Amino acid sequence: MIKINENYLNLEQNYLFPAIAKKVKEYREKHPSADIISLGIGDVTRPLPRACVEALHKASDEMACEKTFRGYGPEQGYSFLIEDIIKNDYEAFGIELSPQEVFVSDGAKCDVGNIQEIFSTDITVAVADPVYPVYLDTNIMAGRKVLKLPCLAENGFAPKIPDFKADLIYLCSPNNPTGAVLNKEQLKEWVDYAKKNGSVIIFDSAYKEYIRQADLPRSIYEIEGAKEVAIEVRSFSKTAGFTGLRCAYMVVPLALKGAGKGKDVLLNDLWRRRHCTKFNGVPYIVQRAAQAVYSEQGKKEVKQLIEYYMTNAAIIKKGLSSLGLTVYGGENAPYIWLKLPNGLKSFDFFDILLSRANVVGTPGSGFGECGEGYFRLTSFGSRENTLKAVERIEKLKL
Ligand code: MLT
Repeated sequence: MIKINENYLNLEQNYLFPAIAKKVKEYREKHPSADIISLGIGDVTRPLPRACVEALHKASDEMACEKTFRGYGPEQGYSFLIEDIIKNDYEAFGIELSPQEVFVSDGAKCDVGNIQEIFSTDITVAVADPVYPVYLDTNIMAGRKVLKLPCLAENGFAPKIPDFKADLIYLCSPNNPTGAVLNKEQLKEWVDYAKKNGSVIIFDSAYKEYIRQADLPRSIYEIEGAKEVAIEVRSFSKTAGFTGLRCAYMVVPLALKGAGKGKDVLLNDLWRRRHCTKFNGVPYIVQRAAQAVYSEQGKKEVKQLIEYYMTNAAIIKKGLSSLGLTVYGGENAPYIWLKLPNGLKSFDFFDILLSRANVVGTPGSGFGECGEGYFRLTSFGSRENTLKAVERIEKLKL
């Protein structure tokens, strides 16, 4: 028989979200009439902005005509989108990037999962605990040593600078699952650490649009010198409702280097090589829809979407807090991180919530050991379901 990659046997049996979906499916089969509300996986529920839909229609029509039809596009992304990304997401914030540094992709999950391939398998990786499972699982699949950075309530769920040398560090801010946001001083400490240790930071800022507080950094490149140590990942999913459409981008600065075969190598060159070999680009029509996010109309609609979800977050936070529960997040992030009362375990609460309130959330322990005793709720539901879910939780009398 063929020999498998045994590293896969070191993974938890199932990826977190399908495991939760399976539990919900089983419950639904036993209780077919249950009106189940999902505040579990962070999937958006509002339709795409009109600006994006119109761009999709227009681009689809182009595909129907011989003169405007497009086949394979540039693997890295069309320049019309890359230019708008740079202008609106970076130059508007005083950050300069060259088009070569931006790679358009089919999702931040794929990017944060794939980027580890360009690094050696004998490096040490550091991830937060609790953590978005993709960072951890993809490095386990590759057989790397992964060390955890506990994120506790007493540190505002910020990972502390480790007293060991980590080569690759994953930071997520605004954070999934805790909703915490790293401030400039904290980010600077990480940039300084990475410079001192020759490390690389993967900075996942997929939720940057949810930052309300003006002095909080949206990009790691707001910190001087970060281009020498950090790769940044962003997504249109949670910003403009692209979870089903799929479009994201990753910035791999030209200043970022690694070492191999006795010489310095640009990580940008490696990633381009990998991208061109394994990826044929995001569909043209999807890139046109992503470009529409940066139109005047698109910007207005995205703002409304974010407002909508953040109002949901405020409803959940206020509702749970008024029950005397300790609730984190939800202020600069779409996730609510609930401290469970009376020593309740995360998966036990999941069962209680599903069976007694027909509400689905995500057990904190699914994101790591330090998430035990916590529970994540998302603000991505409809307003009606969010209000209903809070009402049902209130009735539980926790
Ligand atoms: C989550 O619920 O954590 C996210 O939706 C998962 C993802 O973006 O892949």
